[in-house]
Amino acid sequence: MAENPAGPRMRSTPVPMHPGLQLLSDVTTALSAGVFSASAMDSLVVLLKRGLPASVCRLWVRQDDDLSYRAFAPEGDIPSPEVQAQMAQAIRAGTAEATDDSWDQLSLRVPLNHEGERLGLLEVRIARDGRETMARDVLSVIANVLTPLLASRELSKDLAFEVARRAREIEEQRRVIDSLPVGLYVIDRHYRVQAWNRKRETGTQGIPREKAIGRPIFDVLHRQPRELLRREFDEVFTSGRLQVYEAVGEDNRQYRISKIPMRQDDQEISHLITIGEDITEWKDVQGQIAQSEKLAAMGQLAAGIMHEINNPLATIGACIDAVAGYSDTVPAEARSKVDEYLRIMDSEVERCKRIVNNLLDLSRPRGGAKSEQDVNVVVEETLLLLKHHDRFKSLELRRDLAADLAPVMASKDQLIQIFMALMLNAADAMEARGTLTVHTGRNPARGDEVMIAFSDTGHGMAKADIQKIFEPFYTTKPHGRGTGLGLSICYTIIADHRGRIEVDSTLGRGSTFTVYLPMAHA
Ligand SMILES: Nc1ncnc2c1ncn2[C@@H]1O[C@H](COP(=O)(O)OP(=O)(O)OP(=O)(O)O)[C@@H](O)[C@H]1O
Ligand SMILES: [Mg+2]
Repeated sequence: MAENPAGPRMRSTPVPMHPGLQLLSDVTTALSAGVFSASAMDSLVVLLKRGLPASVCRLWVRQDDDLSYRAFAPEGDIPSPEVQAQMAQAIRAGTAEATDDSWDQLSLRVPLNHEGERLGLLEVRIARDGRETMARDVLSVIANVLTPLLASRELSKDLAFEVARRAREIEEQRRVIDSLPVGLYVIDRHYRVQAWNRKRETGTQGIPREKAIGRPIFDVLHRQPRELLRREFDEVFTSGRLQVYEAVGEDNRQYRISKIPMRQDDQEISHLITIGEDITEWKDVQGQIAQSEKLAAMGQLAAGIMHEINNPLATIGACIDAVAGYSDTVPAEARSKVDEYLRIMDSEVERCKRIVNNLLDLSRPRGGAKSEQDVNVVVEETLLLLKHHDRFKSLELRRDLAADLAPVMASKDQLIQIFMALMLNAADAMEARGTLTVHTGRNPARGDEVMIAFSDTGHGMAKADIQKIFEPFYTTKPHGRGTGLGLSICYTIIADHRGRIEVDSTLGRGSTFTVYLPMAHA
């Protein structure tokens, strides 16, 4: 006989479940997600109300403020604000379990406490119809299920709050360091980058934050010598003292680098902050101040001795003239020698006078009062004066003069003096061959300034030499050709006009000297 592989056939007849168990099964299904949610609580109270059945069913849950309680309840059971406040107070006070039972109605209130915290309360009102025990049992099971759910919600609420607070703090700190006008980064004791601000991302030396964070600083700043960098960091880590030094970046700008040790809770140094400030402009200003002070001191000295030197020079000049008057009495064979010596003495005395006068210009530039001047007109007048100069005859000259240029307040004689000094220098640098371009216009970077630029195609200057050209007596010209005072005087005069002079030069290619003067009606 063939056996039925499926075994004896069974008929499935539904066995009625105990109503308490049915209710528990429904409730646990509603809570099956295992996490607290308002919709799960709403279904819970509806199921409870129907399943017990109850005339009132509410689940009270403590709110974020740790004081008030929210009631989850089916439509008709939502409590009034007064009831809500009373219940909250009763739960807090631990008196909520006292109920007002009547002969046919029974209130059941099951507290949901966890580690002494009153997280909530289950409240139902049922009829005294013999099913009270079942209701009590069901409620206590549900309370056991609900309490850990509420507890974990509180915990995650605290955690979420803490995470949000920390994130906010970090975000605020980041905003602060991002808004700093200095490049800043932080490394930990393992030389790993922990912070990298916005400014450190910009500029030619900038590196994007995501390429820096978490990586060893030596890999990030791979162009800097590793050993040197490590030594600098270690010095701060071991000494605990701030280190400051200056450096020139690849972009040729000057930086002040500060390395600051960072301690947490006064313990040992955990991090190191490096701050890089661009101090190029500040250095320039410092240099200019030093330069003006030096020139002013020189000028004062010159003014002091000028009188003492001018008088003897005048005497020597007069003596030379007198001696020249006796030249007839000199024997014929010596006459040409005597005349030659007298001429040399005369020209050297003249040279001394010129130097003394130039030096005097350093202390108080002469040239009279200032009035409104059109720099284009002054440029033309200077060119007229230079036209017959030997050094100018074979040069090509280009004018690029802006029309409708605003006037400046200046002494015309002094403007001629500086334009002439700059153009003679240009001519010297080109050794009488090349192109001199005179450009005038409004300073594109500042609307309130007029600029006058003299560009030559001469021998130019090395960077190191540019630093020295405004020093009095610095000259590279043959003896007797230059005194080295031309640019120092330009500097003083321009400063007296509240202007600036800037140099741009490339060795072997040429130079541009640019004078900036404030407009008269800026
Ligand atoms: N356009 C230029 N191109 C190249 N070098 C320049 C230029 N202008 C100035 N210099 C350099 O700067 C030095 C100083 O110039 P400065 O005008 O102060 O003195 P100088 O021309 O040598 O003498 P002085 O002007 O007193 O006759 C020059 O000797 C030269 O080396
Ligand atoms: Mg000169």
